Amino acid sequence: MSTVHLIDHPLIQHKLTLMRRKEASTNSFRRMLGELSTLMAYEITRDFPLQDLEIETPMEKMVGKVIDGKKLALVSILRAGNGFLDGMLNVVPGARIGHIGLFRDPETLQPVEYYYKMPENMCERDVIVVDPMLATGNSAAAAVQQLKTKSNPKSIKFMCLLAAPEGIKTLQAAHPDVDIYTAAIDRELDSHGYILPGLGDAGDRIFGTK
Ligand code: URA
Repeated sequence: MSTVHLIDHPLIQHKLTLMRRKEASTNSFRRMLGELSTLMAYEITRDFPLQDLEIETPMEKMVGKVIDGKKLALVSILRAGNGFLDGMLNVVPGARIGHIGLFRDPETLQPVEYYYKMPENMCERDVIVVDPMLATGNSAAAAVQQLKTKSNPKSIKFMCLLAAPEGIKTLQAAHPDVDIYTAAIDRELDSHGYILPGLGDAGDRIFGTK
């Protein structure tokens, strides 16, 4: 079974609480999401392997550490996943970006793909799939399934801001190899699939739509 990593650094908890408030403006919500994604990116990259590199400082030669040839792709689940990208790119500026768009079929209630665009050489890449809200887990599980089927990356991690217990269960059951990184685990879903206490519709709050 995959591991759920709760990234609950005090700075992350503080910003998350401010973001959740209904009176937070689009501007401040977006800014805090950017800051949070940078902070979370530190934690999700913690296990990146290092290699030695011989360098020369102005004083003498030394052997330093650099990241070991990691080929990374961030894959955003449209549209709210895009809110994570800029902040994460502060930490991993060379990462390539992919996008997956899914909508829910109103009759079957199953996710249907409408967009899929990935960088080259995905089978050599480690992937972080990003979506701020892991609610029912159906979109996340479907996105990961599409990635595995169409692009077969080396590894996949899933990063969100808030997770519902239902979403964690669904994603873990479908993809026990995909670790989940989240800033909080909330109580439950409401009857419309919204996270409680949550923060509302993440896409609407990032883009200022309703
Ligand atoms: N998507 C959101 O944007 N918010 C939720 O609470 C659940 C899914």
